[in-house]
Amino acid sequence: MTDRIPLAVPDLRGNEQAYLARCVADNWVSSAGPFVIECEKQMASLAGRQHAVATMNGTTALHLALLAAGAKPGDHVVVPDWTFAATANAVRHAGAVPIFADITEESWTLDFASLARALETAPGRVGAVIVVHTLGHPADVDPLLALCREAKIPLIEDAAGAIGARYKGRPAGGLGDLAIFSFNGNKTVTAGGGGMVVTDDADQAKRLRALSAQARSGAEYRYDAVGFNYRMTNVNAALLLAQIERLDDMLATKRRIAGTYDQALAGRNDLTPMPRRPWAESGCWLYSVLCRTESDAQSLVRHMADRDIEARVFWRTLSDQAPYAGTPTVLSGMAARLSGTVVSLPCSSSLTPAQQARVLDALAHWPSKRRTH
Ligand SMILES: Cc1ncc(COP(=O)(O)O)c(C=O)c1O
Repeated sequence: MTDRIPLAVPDLRGNEQAYLARCVADNWVSSAGPFVIECEKQMASLAGRQHAVATMNGTTALHLALLAAGAKPGDHVVVPDWTFAATANAVRHAGAVPIFADITEESWTLDFASLARALETAPGRVGAVIVVHTLGHPADVDPLLALCREAKIPLIEDAAGAIGARYKGRPAGGLGDLAIFSFNGNKTVTAGGGGMVVTDDADQAKRLRALSAQARSGAEYRYDAVGFNYRMTNVNAALLLAQIERLDDMLATKRRIAGTYDQALAGRNDLTPMPRRPWAESGCWLYSVLCRTESDAQSLVRHMADRDIEARVFWRTLSDQAPYAGTPTVLSGMAARLSGTVVSLPCSSSLTPAQQARVLDALAHWPSKRRTH
């Protein structure tokens, strides 16, 4: 009997226990407190931004970012078709309608030509564009941002899984008009559940902060708008701060794990590693490989499960799923190519070299139908 190797689990080997104990000792356990303030400071600095507002998860961060960017009910918002549901769901939460655009082969992120066509053919006002830094790899933001600036449309970065990533030397989260992060349990750093919106605009930050706390003005029960209860708790922030303290180590480990997989897969024609472009430094959030067919992807996941190794088929396109039937699309086929054919492999920062060797051995023995060497 071997130990089960999980896909991506929290790595809580720092000050997590001590900081959680401090929350209890100091009676700061709810939606304000010193850890929240410190995490906001640290995330603003990490993303090279003036302001950061903590939220209870990445989805609520996206919802607030859309509102702060000025997306209105009935607007359209361009999102990539190959993303986590939260990206498009947040658009709907804001009362807007997604337009699903395609992604590039080179980085699996929003495609310039597809965005340009989406902006040209949008059936109504476009309130925002969301670019996703897929799997921790930054999108090629400069041309996308230039297009958005020309059209006077705010660009929001969904950097949910891209903490620590860099684009041409600049931090992911510091590239568009606003950006969000997620600190879900499977992310490189986790708060248990948590999110963050970052921006350089003081008015936006004020609005984000107000909307996240019922838009209540002052201590009395007076309200400026219909707000939300989206604040991160001090307990979650205690976890998050302990994690941020170890970010550099955890990133280095994730990148080493990714490099080891890349090397082992080099030259195989049945599995293609997730992209890494020279202009980017990926955060290597969730190491994933492209299979040749959906049935190969299913076979790989089963092959791993038989060896007590957790692997999982990654995102499926959203445009062909029930909640988004009839939604406008500008697609060229790349998102469809990746839908159901990408498999994520174990890559927690706590994965040991011996565990990774077991995964590599399982990969080497996977009998894909099309393997030729
Ligand atoms: C691309 C993307 N956007 C948004 C989210 C939502 O974050 P959360 O789960 O913290 O709400 C995720 C979460 O995995 C994600 O991968």
